Amino acid sequence: MMAPVIEARAAGYSVRGKALVHAASLALDEGRITAIIGPNGAGKSTFLKLLSGELVPDVGQIRSLGTDIGALPPWRLACRRAVMAQASRLAFPFLVHEIVRMGLEGYGARAAGGFGGIVEGALARADAAHLAGRQYQTLSGGEQQRVQFARTLCQLEAGRRIEPRQALLLDEPIASLDLCHQLALMDAVREAAHGEGVAVLAVLHDLNLAAHYADYLVAMNGGRIVATGVPSEVMTPGLIRAVFRVDVGAMPDIAGPAILPQFCRRIDEPTAA
Ligand SMILES: Nc1ncnc2c1ncn2[C@@H]1O[C@H](COP(=O)(O)OP(=O)(O)OP(=O)(O)O)[C@@H](O)[C@H]1O
Ligand SMILES: [Mg+2]
Repeated sequence: MMAPVIEARAAGYSVRGKALVHAASLALDEGRITAIIGPNGAGKSTFLKLLSGELVPDVGQIRSLGTDIGALPPWRLACRRAVMAQASRLAFPFLVHEIVRMGLEGYGARAAGGFGGIVEGALARADAAHLAGRQYQTLSGGEQQRVQFARTLCQLEAGRRIEPRQALLLDEPIASLDLCHQLALMDAVREAAHGEGVAVLAVLHDLNLAAHYADYLVAMNGGRIVATGVPSEVMTPGLIRAVFRVDVGAMPDIAGPAILPQFCRRIDEPTAA
């Protein structure tokens, strides 16, 4: 067995004595899409930041290809994994192609050969080629999200020459996208995973798309992983009731479990402190 591209081993993270993530274990393997679902405040983004190396766990370990992620030089980590944060605000006026080119920073000089066409190719895969010359700050929310996705694709494409085993970590990548672009982005994610062998982790609030695209589903609640498995095992009425406090009613099986929100009923309880 090859070591996972990124792996959490009982990794936890606390702020002022409160555990935001309790000893969580998860392996991100090549060619597989893992989706994390869970309510607001469940610890999904915090866990993703642990897996990306942005946060350092105060218990347990995050390993990448068998070594502690903290031991990797930043340029090497940048070749191995790209990250799309939940919100990406920018303080300075950058052009779109400059943002995508940021995916090349940190290790650009070390990569063999040039980067000809990588920025353009990444923009095209994110359906953002027509935005290349625009000011990022003037883009719509969904357009900005596609440009951030293009930046991660650009980073992986360039880094692949040095680190052929890679991970892509996406925090709510389709939150601002229209239906067509949701599907287009998830199809591009699938191509990265199944076509290019990238280990993908995506935090998703759309449970139907999570079940449809994920090879492996992880449910988090209260800072803990509460269920893992293939979507048909994890996305059950009982799990959704327990984690999201919603009764889903009839749950049709349309090539996998599906939820019809218009037939759901909230279980009216305030969020626990
Ligand atoms: N630096 C911090 N200090 C204190 N509390 C924090 C900090 N960062 C996150 N939290 C809290 O930890 C919990 C988990 O946050 P996190 O961002 O991981 O949630 P999430 O599952 O990504 O939620 P969402 O679906 O809303 O994005 C939240 O209750 C949040 O308020
Ligand atoms: Mg979040």
